[in-house]
Amino acid sequence: MNPTILEKIKSTYEKEFGEAPQLIVRSPGRINLIGEHTDYNLGFVLPAAVDKGIYMAFGKSEGDTSRLVSVDQQEDFSFDIKQPTFKVEQQWYNYIIGTSSELIGLGAEVEGFNMVFSGDLPQGAGMSSSAALECGTAIGLNTLFDLNLSKEELIKASQKAEHNYVGVMCGIMDQFASTMGKEDQVILLDCRSLEYDYFPLELNAYSLLLCNSNVSHNLASSEYNVRRAQCEEGVAILKKHYPQVTSLRDVTMEMLEEHKAEFDSVVYLRCKYVVEENERVENFCDALKRHDLDEVSDILASAQHAMKTEYEITCPEIDFMADFANEKEEVKGSRMMGGGFGGCTINIVKNEYRETFKKELSAQYKAKFDIDIDFYDVNISDGAHVMS
Ligand code: GLA
Repeated sequence: MNPTILEKIKSTYEKEFGEAPQLIVRSPGRINLIGEHTDYNLGFVLPAAVDKGIYMAFGKSEGDTSRLVSVDQQEDFSFDIKQPTFKVEQQWYNYIIGTSSELIGLGAEVEGFNMVFSGDLPQGAGMSSSAALECGTAIGLNTLFDLNLSKEELIKASQKAEHNYVGVMCGIMDQFASTMGKEDQVILLDCRSLEYDYFPLELNAYSLLLCNSNVSHNLASSEYNVRRAQCEEGVAILKKHYPQVTSLRDVTMEMLEEHKAEFDSVVYLRCKYVVEENERVENFCDALKRHDLDEVSDILASAQHAMKTEYEITCPEIDFMADFANEKEEVKGSRMMGGGFGGCTINIVKNEYRETFKKELSAQYKAKFDIDIDFYDVNISDGAHVMS
């Protein structure tokens, strides 16, 4: 919890709206240990909610007009809850308008509301600030207007907000993790059935460290949708031979190899990546449960390599950071996290080596790219919830 941010959103709400907010929501960002770009292929992911997030103060407004205030962007935006107008470019308020509109689409009686928010979650870092905003909005409105929607409905409405109001055809991982996160537990999620299992992340003398490259390339959302379309192209080819195949989740490497000649070489590589990434999730979970950190390390390094060479979603800055980390005996694996083309690497670093690691990596990164790295210690936390 971040008491300073909490005070800031409460006092801004009072200043802007002349009364105290009716409820406060905390909505976290997420990390993902392994399973990148597998969610929209209905495979497996291993995310967790973290102790960095967005804090939102909500209250009902008079009539249908809703007003949103972003403390960090120093901007506000008003819209009609029943007939929202918005610009299609990615704006912070699209995530909120999108979520309220998707809830209304489910038949929920959402009325005008006011909301002030701020957070300590970096944007463009691959930690899902967008899902945090959507899921916080969904949980806030569900409580404010007694909508009685289930968590699954809120998660799916938040995901659709991103499809229909932001234009990113994301999978369900981010919204699921932001809503369902549990303190000290990672979530093994089957993105097809939405069945999930929590288990503790026991790293003993090691802990997680995120390294923010501080680059976020514009390519991210357009290339994301291209990857998704390439996966669908692969499914269409295989479906002709195996009618039971409805997603890459149903595909094995044997099937892919058998029909390799029918594939465009790029589409083949994309599909290979996804099929093997699903296997990596399974192997990673087994290794974690056995406390085999050397195996964990190898899997993370091969995931990074595959994202670079097969799915082609990394960038030179990320590759540099991950390569640096993967060469160190004291680091049990490093790879890019999230949608791609920048953001953070996730690293498992020996506790006593952390400070040296940070110092050496930042010096070398600065010398090569003239950019400062931000380091985040993350603790695994509960998902989005009403605080008061
Ligand atoms: C983004 C999307 C997720 C997921 C990841 C990649 O964060 O929102 O649905 O696809 O990229 O794993």
